[in-house]
Amino acid sequence: MTQPGKTPSDSQVDSYYLLMPDQANAYGTAFGGVIMAWIDMTAAMAAQKHSGTQIVTASIESMSFLEPIRIGEHVHLRARVIYTGHTSMQVEVRVLRENPMKNIKGLATTAYLTFVAIDEENHPVQVAPLLPQTDEERMCYQQAQQRYQSRKK
Ligand SMILES: CC(C)(COP(=O)(O)OP(=O)(O)OC[C@H]1O[C@@H](n2cnc3c(N)ncnc32)[C@H](O)[C@@H]1OP(=O)(O)O)[C@@H](O)C(=O)NCCC(=O)NCCS
Repeated sequence: MTQPGKTPSDSQVDSYYLLMPDQANAYGTAFGGVIMAWIDMTAAMAAQKHSGTQIVTASIESMSFLEPIRIGEHVHLRARVIYTGHTSMQVEVRVLRENPMKNIKGLATTAYLTFVAIDEENHPVQVAPLLPQTDEERMCYQQAQQRYQSRKK
């Protein structure tokens, strides 16, 4: 039975961190693996909000580190589901850095991940269709659909 649709905003999750010295590399900027773990966690919560089921990470399609994040900066991750297949969901994560003392803000990282909804026996289960509302959400949906279709080929 088809489930009622949900919008990208229905699944939005925001996470906040302060970058500490033990999360940095030898140059005083964020260690990529720490940011990846925060991205996976925030994206997983968005996928779970959409599906209302257990989920697993199936793939990380892309991760682009655009600007370094320095020790002491605030890190804001925003995740939302941007595309759904039958049982899979593509999630976009945008990572923003902010230094309120120096009035610096920037887009530090972007990532696209695919999660699959599963039942208690780990079998994939259908998810609610996504209903993009705005032009920007429709554009993200189309781009994600192209990634989904190219992977299927
Ligand atoms: C992801 C997983 C559930 C898919 O199971 P499967 O038996 O291959 O399932 P199917 O072939 O029926 O595919 C189910 C969905 O997964 C998607 N999928 C499978 N492999 C994928 C991959 N590598 N990347 C993206 N999506 C993938 C399929 O496209 C399909 O999506 P759709 O239903 O929307 O079209 C299974 O491979 C798995 O459990 N992997 C391990 C996950 C894991 O341990 N993650 C890390 C910790 S959470």
